[in-house]
Amino acid sequence: MAAVRDIHTFAGETPLSPEEAVDTAKRHLVQPWPFAGTIGTEARSFIGKGDGIYIWDGEGRRLIDGPGGMWCVNVGYRREELAAVMFEQAMALSYNTPWYTMSEASAQLAERIAEYAPGDLDHVFFTTGGSSAVETALRFMHYYNNVRGRPEKKLILSRGGAYHGSTYLSASLNGRPRDHDWMDAAANLVVKLTAPNPFRRPAGVSVEGFADFLVEEFRQTVARIGAENIGAFIGEPVQASGGVIVPPESYLPRVREICRDNDILYISDEVVTGFGRLGHVFASEDVFGLDPDMITFAKGVTSGYFPLGGVVISQRLLATLRQSNHAGAMFGHGYTYSSHPIGCAVALKNLDLLESGILAHARRIAPYFKARLMTLEELPLVGQVRVAGLMAGIECVADRASNDPLQLDKEVGKRIDQHCQQLGLLVRPVINMCVMSPPLIITEPQIDEMVAILREGISRTMEDLRREGLWKEGSRAVGQ
Ligand SMILES: Cc1ncc(COP(=O)(O)O)c(C=O)c1O
Repeated sequence: MAAVRDIHTFAGETPLSPEEAVDTAKRHLVQPWPFAGTIGTEARSFIGKGDGIYIWDGEGRRLIDGPGGMWCVNVGYRREELAAVMFEQAMALSYNTPWYTMSEASAQLAERIAEYAPGDLDHVFFTTGGSSAVETALRFMHYYNNVRGRPEKKLILSRGGAYHGSTYLSASLNGRPRDHDWMDAAANLVVKLTAPNPFRRPAGVSVEGFADFLVEEFRQTVARIGAENIGAFIGEPVQASGGVIVPPESYLPRVREICRDNDILYISDEVVTGFGRLGHVFASEDVFGLDPDMITFAKGVTSGYFPLGGVVISQRLLATLRQSNHAGAMFGHGYTYSSHPIGCAVALKNLDLLESGILAHARRIAPYFKARLMTLEELPLVGQVRVAGLMAGIECVADRASNDPLQLDKEVGKRIDQHCQQLGLLVRPVINMCVMSPPLIITEPQIDEMVAILREGISRTMEDLRREGLWKEGSRAVGQ
């Protein structure tokens, strides 16, 4: 293949300086999740290059990539093997229509993913990312119940704190603060349940008691609405953008049983937890003992080198369709880039890398990652640190007694991020939380460096909040 270009060189035709790029973006680029007051005029932090767990900003400053892209750069930046396979696949076959043709890479990848998926999940429908994977699973459920002669069985159970995507139906499932303030949703199709967040459980209730409450709520919701009207439950094993919410241990398996008893499809959204984040290709069974009916995945499947996602579907569901009386009923769903050969080829090589030591490394280093991050709970602004595998959420609270985040400057995550960027770490701020999911190749000294910067960034934020009169240790925020 051609020599991989120098990482300092941008592949565009007319190289722009970071300042010019920011300027141009402000004039022409609209980035995700903008606010009305600045839409069409803003640009985010410029990033010029990446290598391993590091990225470089417009001033040439090296930063640890705390969020690992967006929970996706699992094997790290600048993996020559992945660049090479993209080049080779593009030269061999850059695209083929999934409507009338198929490629070797897509068949091989489907087989390898099926080998890792639990139970009888042995077929894969490839999509362009996580939202389209969730959308596919939901549309498949609707189609499945139509073909089975159960057109009423369409409602979807989702939960507070959930994030499942940004297409209309997948976004309708979302349950984080602000998700629906200004955005419409297919509310008639979705029923929301309580977020399985032990940190926010009612005072005086044990974690197991909270699990009992969640399960009872689930059971009662099914009884109230009627199983004949509910098609699916969808849940992230660990709610990611909701703040790395690790549910009580018994809760998901018990929900799975209720779903099975009521013919409600269980969709496990592993867009974040899949492909190594929790040390396994899929976490549903290996970590949580679950055998879902469908698993959605994206992100880490290509370590972010190419947009690809998919749904792994149970053999039983496909057999049911084949045995129905409607042999001509078409699943009218597909994307121009379903089974993209470059995406599938990259995913195959990415799986090779994960299998050749990175998964094992992620499992080995996870306890160290957790132990080091937990030390941040010593800081008075930190309410809780939650860690699962190589994902972490650091939740700040103004008032530790009540754990009430509303007392605090809502932008505290952003402030921590700004300090940390100065110190050499990119953080993903979510309101009063920072979520972390570094590349899985992170080493112990790099974890030490990351945690030291976080500690300093949070300490500086505490000083700012005190100085601005927004917060006083051990007391309620001023003016609340
Ligand atoms: C659990 C989960 N599902 C789905 C999505 C949507 O994926 P995408 O942004 O690739 O469409 C995300 C994105 O963060 C996610 O975290």
